[in-house]
Amino acid sequence: MKEPSRVTLNCAQQLESRIADRTARVGILGMGYVGVPLARAFCQAGFRVHGFDADATRVQTLQEGRSPIAHVPHSDIASMRDRGRLQVTTDPKELRQVDVALVCVPTPITESQEPDLTYVHAATREIARYMNPGTLVVLESTTYPGTTEEIVQPILEESGLVCGEGFFLAFSPEREDPGNPSYSTSNIPKLVGGVDEIGGTLAHHLYAAAVETVVRVADARTAEAAKVLENTYRSVNIALVNELKILFDRMGIDIWAAIDAAATKPFGFHPFYPGPGLGGHCIPVDPHYLSWRARQFGMSTRFIDLAGEVNAAMPDYVISQVVNELNQVGKAISQSELLILGVAYKRNIDDTRESPALKLISKLRKLGARVHYHDPYVPVLNSGPGFPHSMESVPLDEEAVANSDLVLIVTDHSDVDYSMVARYAPLVVDTRNCLPPKGADMREFLETSPTVLRTTGAKDASTKNPQKQA
Ligand SMILES: NC(=O)c1ccc[n+]([C@@H]2O[C@H](COP(=O)([O-])OP(=O)(O)OC[C@H]3O[C@@H](n4cnc5c(N)ncnc54)[C@H](O)[C@@H]3O)[C@@H](O)[C@H]2O)c1
Repeated sequence: MKEPSRVTLNCAQQLESRIADRTARVGILGMGYVGVPLARAFCQAGFRVHGFDADATRVQTLQEGRSPIAHVPHSDIASMRDRGRLQVTTDPKELRQVDVALVCVPTPITESQEPDLTYVHAATREIARYMNPGTLVVLESTTYPGTTEEIVQPILEESGLVCGEGFFLAFSPEREDPGNPSYSTSNIPKLVGGVDEIGGTLAHHLYAAAVETVVRVADARTAEAAKVLENTYRSVNIALVNELKILFDRMGIDIWAAIDAAATKPFGFHPFYPGPGLGGHCIPVDPHYLSWRARQFGMSTRFIDLAGEVNAAMPDYVISQVVNELNQVGKAISQSELLILGVAYKRNIDDTRESPALKLISKLRKLGARVHYHDPYVPVLNSGPGFPHSMESVPLDEEAVANSDLVLIVTDHSDVDYSMVARYAPLVVDTRNCLPPKGADMREFLETSPTVLRTTGAKDASTKNPQKQA
């Protein structure tokens, strides 16, 4: 490997000291679920952050000192702005102001389930156009191994600068778990892998200034691979328990009790929990990045594909449960009034991307059911691709529950009074184990007040199964 020139080393040393004394300006491209908490972590560490977003409404929200994300309080954004720590713009020319550019833009899949790197391309082109020599660029968006080196580096080099000399490049995957009260950007260990040696070292220094633990790995590919491994591991294990849920239902065994029992083994078992299907921007999407990449190496990834199939079939299984429950009381699905509890893809957040609730609502409506929903985090569900409905959350009270033919629990938000639901719902299909199983002694559960449900451990739906979110 070529030794860096003195000019390159000087450049890197300057950035290193600017990171150390917090005068380095941190640019974040993509001020969404990942970018906003990341901006907060860098502001809290004493940096000035320049946020960039292509969405003018989102930029205006942030400029007005409001948070676009439910689990980041408005007061945090207002205070970052008021202290002069955060400024946000749609104008990529402002990239001339920054020493570091962190890319946190979406990485969705196309309709044919192939990686869609359109946003990464666009953001990288903007950086290439305006970056100063000596800039550190870090890709944080989840992607397949090889992206930073094979896609991002060549676009940045169109600037005329060379990686490892004129600019520095690394990959550092985002492991944000929105709504998780125990883990935030600053205490989730951050992996860092450089495309060039200096890029890896500078990225390590940068994140170490804002995050408690930084783990440097051999290179960008290893960091990229680690991230898709993490999410594929979840997808495959969730698929396993989803399949076993269907089997154990047939066998008359409560899968939740079986998982809790297995989890008493202190080694060799990590609990995963079944659900109504995968949701969110990560677990249903990221494994496709890896299986697409595998095909370029002449391999098919059978585990990943099978897991995808099993997980994608869960909404249909839930619908069959709903139809069965209604049948047993002589009610046709086409004549039924249903209440869906929770439409966010997971507990205590407002994110409905890829949420199984959307698939369930569409399918149930197609079957002729009248469907309402309640979600304390999602007051309005707007129509979008694959979801041609606009709906508003209905209040959750005894009347709404009692007047429904069946309540379908899709998301186990903490601040829902499940004892009231158990008391008044004529029928319940509970995909998240919020209620006791059929035949269980309901007295203790019903005696538990809603306040206790929200704040204590034993009966608290938010802590009962901390890993069960898909
Ligand atoms: N949401 C999560 O919990 C999570 C967790 C880990 C990793 N990730 C990964 O992080 C990445 C970002 O995800 P997210 O959930 O924050 O997405 P998001 O949709 O919430 O935010 C992305 C933002 O990028 C903006 N954007 C698009 N193109 C842009 C451009 N050229 N310049 C500037 N801004 C642009 C969008 O307008 C949007 O506001 C994805 O790769 C995702 O897989 C997300």
